[in-house]
Amino acid sequence: MNVLLLAGGLGTRLMPLTEHLPKPMAPVGNRPWLEHLIIHLREQGFKRFVIAVKHHPDKIRDYFEDGSQWGVSIQYALETTLLGTAGAIKNAECYLDDEFIAINADIVHEIEMNPLLDYHKSHGGMVTIGLTEVEDPTQFGVVEQDEQGKILRFVEKPSLKEAPSNRINAGIYIMNKRVLEMIPANREVSIERETFPLLIEQDAGVYGTLIQGYWADMGTKDRYRQIHWDLLDRKNGIAIPGEPRGEGIWVGKNSVIGKGTMIVPPVLIGDNVVIGERSVIGPYTVIGDNCRIADHVRCSETILWDGCVVNEGAILKNCIFGCGLEIGSRHILHEAIINRWGALQA
Ligand code: GTP
Repeated sequence: MNVLLLAGGLGTRLMPLTEHLPKPMAPVGNRPWLEHLIIHLREQGFKRFVIAVKHHPDKIRDYFEDGSQWGVSIQYALETTLLGTAGAIKNAECYLDDEFIAINADIVHEIEMNPLLDYHKSHGGMVTIGLTEVEDPTQFGVVEQDEQGKILRFVEKPSLKEAPSNRINAGIYIMNKRVLEMIPANREVSIERETFPLLIEQDAGVYGTLIQGYWADMGTKDRYRQIHWDLLDRKNGIAIPGEPRGEGIWVGKNSVIGKGTMIVPPVLIGDNVVIGERSVIGPYTVIGDNCRIADHVRCSETILWDGCVVNEGAILKNCIFGCGLEIGSRHILHEAIINRWGALQA
């Protein structure tokens, strides 16, 4: 059984961070989420991957190549136009096994696949959808199921009164390849809006089961931040690179922290980072590899991707900065999400 990772969407809700980057390549704890995901699945025995790419495909292909560096094999199904979540699966048809796993690659999770696979074998239907429970189902497509777990319908964004459950599609599927016969080729098709409702209507056997463990969708800026705070609070087991230096502080290789600088946990500092003197870093701060932070900087609730430069006296709170960004001296930035090259003028 091979694994198809859907990674070609535009990531519009995470713009501008995703302007030149596929969303699943956004770092989580200083490493692209897609890399964590491939390692997580490899550790469960999955070694053959297909990645469905479209938006900046080379950012993924150049990084993973054939996957051998990670001990897996990776093939790429490239789309020339956006085909949507089902269209992308159809486009990858020639790479897929008779039964395969398809995963939205922007879902941050630590799911054990075996219980899902056992359930899939037990019901004999065409599709198993991993489901997750949410407190407020009114923003999602909620499922109604029978006692065996067969999905009877999806109810899109129900009011609290109308919601048949609080279970939603977690973006993790096991599928029989016959499903692809029902997906039209060469046009945009949404699996949630078109394919699953059609399969349910035709009684093809669409089942759902609750997945266990951490699950979060990185699709919005707030959720992207929250995933980092969960990582720092160890609410998920996602690997944190770097040496632990006391409770809630991790520091990467060759990183230097200047005299009188206070690190207020939780904080993750990447490799080859230089932090000047008398700065205050944290709480809830992630600093990417090769960042340079000058003296007297204050930086809290902020995520800096690799190679950022923060000049003297800048104050950053609740910001996310893309790779290689430079922040001018004494700039005060609250809730800024920026992803462009060049210095902000003082
Ligand atoms: P938004 O534009 O913010 O909605 O993000 P998105 O479209 O990138 O992501 P969405 O949550 O809608 O999609 C779920 C997953 O499917 C993500 O990992 C996307 O990269 C992927 N995806 C969505 N549309 C396509 C597509 O047309 N082709 C491919 N290959 N993947 C897609």
